[in-house]
Amino acid sequence: MAILVTGGAGYIGSHMTWLLKDAGEKVVVIDNLSTGFEWALPGDVPLIRGDIGDRTLLDKVLTEHSIEGVIHFAGSIIVPESVSDPLKYYKNNTANSRELIEACVHHGVGKFIFSSTAAVYGDPETVPVDEDAPLRPLSPYGTSKLMTELMLSDVAAAHDFRYTALRYFNVAGADPEGRTGQSTKNATHLIKVASEAALGKRSELGIFGTDFDTPDGTGVRDYIHVSDLVGAHYLALNRLRDGGNSLVMNCGYGEGYSVRQVIEAVKAVSGVDFKVVEQPRRPGDSPKVVAKNDRVLKELSWKPKHNDLPKIVEHALNWEKKLSQRNAEV
Ligand code: UD1
Repeated sequence: MAILVTGGAGYIGSHMTWLLKDAGEKVVVIDNLSTGFEWALPGDVPLIRGDIGDRTLLDKVLTEHSIEGVIHFAGSIIVPESVSDPLKYYKNNTANSRELIEACVHHGVGKFIFSSTAAVYGDPETVPVDEDAPLRPLSPYGTSKLMTELMLSDVAAAHDFRYTALRYFNVAGADPEGRTGQSTKNATHLIKVASEAALGKRSELGIFGTDFDTPDGTGVRDYIHVSDLVGAHYLALNRLRDGGNSLVMNCGYGEGYSVRQVIEAVKAVSGVDFKVVEQPRRPGDSPKVVAKNDRVLKELSWKPKHNDLPKIVEHALNWEKKLSQRNAEV
């Protein structure tokens, strides 16, 4: 039996695929390569190039590969784009997930791990925010993910189908062995952008807002290393294999760092004092988003290995250097 990873050639998906291979699992990837890269995958993993909204393709994959469970990453993730083009998000994240879930039910695939987001909380009233906090997404991106969570809950109540929805906080870093990393062009993630500035790939870094009600006035986030995040997915899969019930869990370390602290860490680790420019707030940004992570620690006995900002930054920088070499070669 194999695990199907949707979006398995993307940033988080490719780390998942490597982890599953390292653990000796059989893996099949489906990815339309809109933001992913075939080279990010282990060479012996079958890549089916296509869309999860394509039901004919899904039927073929689920029939031919004897799929035991699905880890679902495929989707669109850019918050401002979701505001200007909401229907893209309701298609790629909500409608396509519906196709995938329906295909799973049809083919008796009853274990499903879903890539959700802290964006479902919007601007949380209480921080650290727990899973039972009000769900008030501020963007179509967050709503599109929340809609999928709601579908999963209803489907699990009606069918022989169990799921885990993992609500990610700010995912960063790269594979410690340098096999994959965040490679998307025009990425907007703070640690990625700051790493690019440190390596001279961009001339400066903007701080989006210095007047928030936080200790240094800049936004505070819970940065989680991508390897720890995919580790939680594997534990969640094994929990479902052991008969675990459907659950929603936050995935973060429960510690917040400000934009200024992240910039200092990138400067310290890289040794480069790149230019930083204070700018107005970015629309829709919350002052502070930090996870309450008791549930993931308890339910999955999750033991993060990279809960250390300088280490996350070091791995991000290493990957950024590797990416420069790769891009220079092609
Ligand atoms: C991130 C995710 C989003 C997820 C959310 C969950 C990305 C691109 N977005 O959003 O999908 O739902 O976490 O909490 O990963 N900043 C700057 N300058 C920059 C870039 C960012 O000051 O050039 C600041 C932002 O204003 C924010 C912080 O850095 O305070 C983090 O921003 P970013 O990395 O874009 O992630 P989020 O917006 O938190």
